[in-house]
Amino acid sequence: MSATVSAKLLDWYDSHARDLPWRAAPGAPPPDPYRVWLSEVMLQQTTTSAVTPYFRKFTDTWPTVEALAAASEDEVMAAWAGLGYYSRARNLVKCAREVAARGGFPETEAELRQLPGLGAYTAAAVAAIAFGQRAVVVDANVERVVARLFAIREPLPGSRAQIRASIDAITPGERTGDFAQAMMDLGATICTARDARCLLCPLSADCQGRAEGDPLTLPVKAKKKPKPSRTGTAFWIERDQHVWLVKRPGKGMLGGMRALPDDGWSARGDGHGEAPLAGAWKAAGVVRHGFTHFDLELGVAIHAGDAALHEVDGEWWPLDQIDDAGLPTLFAKAARLVLADRD
Ligand code: ADE
Repeated sequence: MSATVSAKLLDWYDSHARDLPWRAAPGAPPPDPYRVWLSEVMLQQTTTSAVTPYFRKFTDTWPTVEALAAASEDEVMAAWAGLGYYSRARNLVKCAREVAARGGFPETEAELRQLPGLGAYTAAAVAAIAFGQRAVVVDANVERVVARLFAIREPLPGSRAQIRASIDAITPGERTGDFAQAMMDLGATICTARDARCLLCPLSADCQGRAEGDPLTLPVKAKKKPKPSRTGTAFWIERDQHVWLVKRPGKGMLGGMRALPDDGWSARGDGHGEAPLAGAWKAAGVVRHGFTHFDLELGVAIHAGDAALHEVDGEWWPLDQIDDAGLPTLFAKAARLVLADRD
């Protein structure tokens, strides 16, 4: 069945491929490896619609891996703000520097895997899409398509090895980048988590899940523990139309990002640390943000009175340029909360 499945899928991709800014047209020579790598790092855990404006901004600002290698980590972190999972941005700079130093990207999956920030998925995707190497490219969309196609009923994550072997069995030796992206597109547009639009699917005749009548029940997932909650406080200290911003420590959550000072919720679990300034504080409200491993409720406290800061490293940031501060989403939400009822 393998030749048939890949041939049908590629045929479908020729007329249905999504037009995305990091892609080559179906059947065309592979795109610039720099653009493939950058897009695949951005697309980890992130949707194509969230990534697209960031991808355009990054490639306008840094059109080559050498240009990105020459950028400062601070500039790149600020440009990444809002995209989340900030260790990706730190690894991006490291990886760009390593690639520029060695004179270009390596072409094999094994060598790509050695670069900072390239896990199994990204190395396989770049090898296939940028270099036409045969690689088994598995993301969550592809897992779903394949669990349905082969009616794999063992729950994830235990079924990963079987899913991988099944993808390997249908992966062609040619047009490997198109095949990988066709699987992703099928998962994103036809065989989605909520819907199985089998009447539009090029693989419906081959699909065991459909034949067994219940594709939407697949993949089966092992029950997850509920996400824990944490609480914390961020401090808003203002003077002469400026707010006090700090730089978070390089390691740890939101590491290296500009931020409001806070009570250390990220390090200790629950907040309740010291305020950075003596004096009276007024509660402005609460913002909520979901991280991978916990949900956070962050109270925002506004300093009432004159702010004399001696002990906290940081900078006064103009309020009318707050959107350019490169605040990660959590702190951008907190700033919006405070500034919402101004003007
Ligand atoms: N998700 C991850 N990589 C992708 C790609 N190359 N095209 C579309 N969606 C993706």
